[in-house]
Amino acid sequence: MTKVVKPGVNAVNAVDNALRKARSEGRPVRILFVCLGNICRSPAAEGMMEHICRDLPSGQRPELDSAGFYGGHAGDLPDRRMRMVASHRGLVLTHRSRTIHESDFDYYDLILGMDDHNISDLHDLAPTQEAESRIARMSDFAVNYPYADCVPDPYYDGLDGFENVLNLLEDATSTLKSMICK
Ligand code: 4NP
Repeated sequence: MTKVVKPGVNAVNAVDNALRKARSEGRPVRILFVCLGNICRSPAAEGMMEHICRDLPSGQRPELDSAGFYGGHAGDLPDRRMRMVASHRGLVLTHRSRTIHESDFDYYDLILGMDDHNISDLHDLAPTQEAESRIARMSDFAVNYPYADCVPDPYYDGLDGFENVLNLLEDATSTLKSMICK
């Protein structure tokens, strides 16, 4: 694995492009977190970001959602294991799984994938180059994990894998919050 300086040019540019879109429309930024099943990583990212942004004034508080590429869990709550480890950190995850749609690129300003499969699929789905310029990889905001090049899929792992996801997401959401509040 390669150690990289984070957040990195692509991630910084994606946030800048997203903030420009939101500000041009005079509203808080809209962020969509994306993974495969939308029952583990992306709903945890959404819930954690919601939790750490609750102290922001409403005019600055981001609008958040999450989605996945695989529709097999549509309508489901997050995975029981993820809800359990998240609850130990004070998070209540209530999102219902849904698939991502091309129209999400119009509504959401910043689209964050968890791994390179998600990133590749997001680029394939994005309707325009401008939309592609607002895609970034969530692990690129995990500044305290310089070797992490993804938020790994924990679905077939033990609870350690779920804790690892939350550790990465705590770091990444904290970075993200400071970037959207500047
Ligand atoms: P997620 O994890 O992408 O973090 O929600 C997964 C959940 C379910 C499956 C794959 C990944 N699945 O194949 O059912």
